[in-house]
Amino acid sequence: MSTLPDKPLITVAGASSKQGRSVATTLLASGRYRVRVLGRRADSAPIRALVEQGAEAIVVPLELGRQAELTAALRGSHGAFLMTPPTLPVAPPDQPELALGRELADAAHAAGVRHVVWSGLENVQARTQGALWVPHFTEKAQVEAHIRSLPMISSFVYLAFFYSNFQEYYVPQRNSDGSLTFAIYLPPDVPMPFVDPLTATGPAVLEIFDHPQRYAGKTLPVIGEILTARQMVDTFTRVSGCEARYASAYSREELLRHFPAFAANEYLLRELVGMVEYAVRYGYYAPERDLEWSRTIDSNALTWEEFLRATRWRGQPAGYGA
Ligand SMILES: NC(=O)c1ccc[n+]([C@@H]2O[C@H](COP(=O)([O-])OP(=O)(O)OC[C@H]3O[C@@H](n4cnc5c(N)ncnc54)[C@H](OP(=O)(O)O)[C@@H]3O)[C@@H](O)[C@H]2O)c1
Repeated sequence: MSTLPDKPLITVAGASSKQGRSVATTLLASGRYRVRVLGRRADSAPIRALVEQGAEAIVVPLELGRQAELTAALRGSHGAFLMTPPTLPVAPPDQPELALGRELADAAHAAGVRHVVWSGLENVQARTQGALWVPHFTEKAQVEAHIRSLPMISSFVYLAFFYSNFQEYYVPQRNSDGSLTFAIYLPPDVPMPFVDPLTATGPAVLEIFDHPQRYAGKTLPVIGEILTARQMVDTFTRVSGCEARYASAYSREELLRHFPAFAANEYLLRELVGMVEYAVRYGYYAPERDLEWSRTIDSNALTWEEFLRATRWRGQPAGYGA
C-alpha cells in the first residue's frame, strides 16, 4: 500500500503572539501544512486553541540560553516562522533582541530547516546613519543579516504599525463629557502604514511558504492601510459613534504628558521617541519596499475602518488573551 508523503511541517515560534497565532491558524486552515507551535506555556489560551485546530505544541520559552531546546523543537521542520516577543530596551549598546534572534536562527539552521521567514523591521541605525536609536528595529535587521548569511532559504516580513497599539499601549483617554482623546504618537497629517497583525500576518507568510523560490531573499512589508492619525480618529468617530479628538503624543514632552508611566523606563522612552521621529523623518519603510504587495496577495487585509467594524472596538483597553 502506498502512502502519500507527509505535508511539510512548519514550526511557528512565539505562537501565542498576535503574529504567531495568525501564521499558525492560516497555515492550518490552508490544509497544506502540518504546524508545530512553540510557546512558553502549554496551558495558555492561544496555544490550547491552536492545538484544538490541529497543531502540535512544544513548550520552549523564547529566551537566551535555550538553543539546544529550540534546535530540538525545530527538528524535522521544513520551514519556520521566527519572531521575537516584545522586549524592553536596556542600557546601550547590548540589547537582548539581537542575541535571541541569532539564537533562533542558529537553532533553525542546526535543525536543518530549509526555509525561514523572519519577522523583521528596517535598520534604523543604517538608515539614519546612527542619528536615531531604535534597537527593536535595528536589531531585527541585524538578525536578518545573520539569517541571510546562513545556507538556507530566507524571506522577511516587515509588519506596519499595529492598529492594536491603541488597545494595548496607547489607549484613548475618556474625558469628563464622555468623549475620547486619542493621544497618538504621530503628527496629525503624516500618512503612516498600519496593519492588524492578527489577521494579516498569516496570509503573507502562507503565500511565502507556498512559493519559496519566488520569495527567496525578499523583504515584504505587511500593510492593511496607509493613513494619517487624524484620519484614524475621524474614522473612529464615524464608525463607533463615539466623539473623539486627536492630541499629539509625538514629542517626548507630549508623550509623557499623556502617558506618564513611560517615565519609569528612560530607555523605552528614548526608543519610542526615536522610533516615531524615524518613521516621520525617514519613512517607516525604506523607499525600495513594495508597499502594495501584501494587499495584492491578501485582498482581505483589514483597513482601519474594517478593523473597527470587525472588532466593534469603542476605545477601551483590550488585550489579546495571551
Ligand atoms: N506594535 C507594533 O506596532 C509592531 C510593529 C511591527 C513589529 N512589531 C514587533 O512585533 C513583535 C511582537 O509581536 P506581537 O505583538 O504579535 O506579540 P504579542 O501579541 O505582544 O505577543 C507576545 C507573546 O509572546 C509570548 N511571549 C512573551 N515572552 C515570551 C517568551 N519569553 N517566550 C515565549 N513566548 C513569549 C507571550 O505569550 P504567553 O504569555 O502566553 O507566553 C505573548 O503572547 C515585537 O518584536 C515587536 O517589535 C510590533
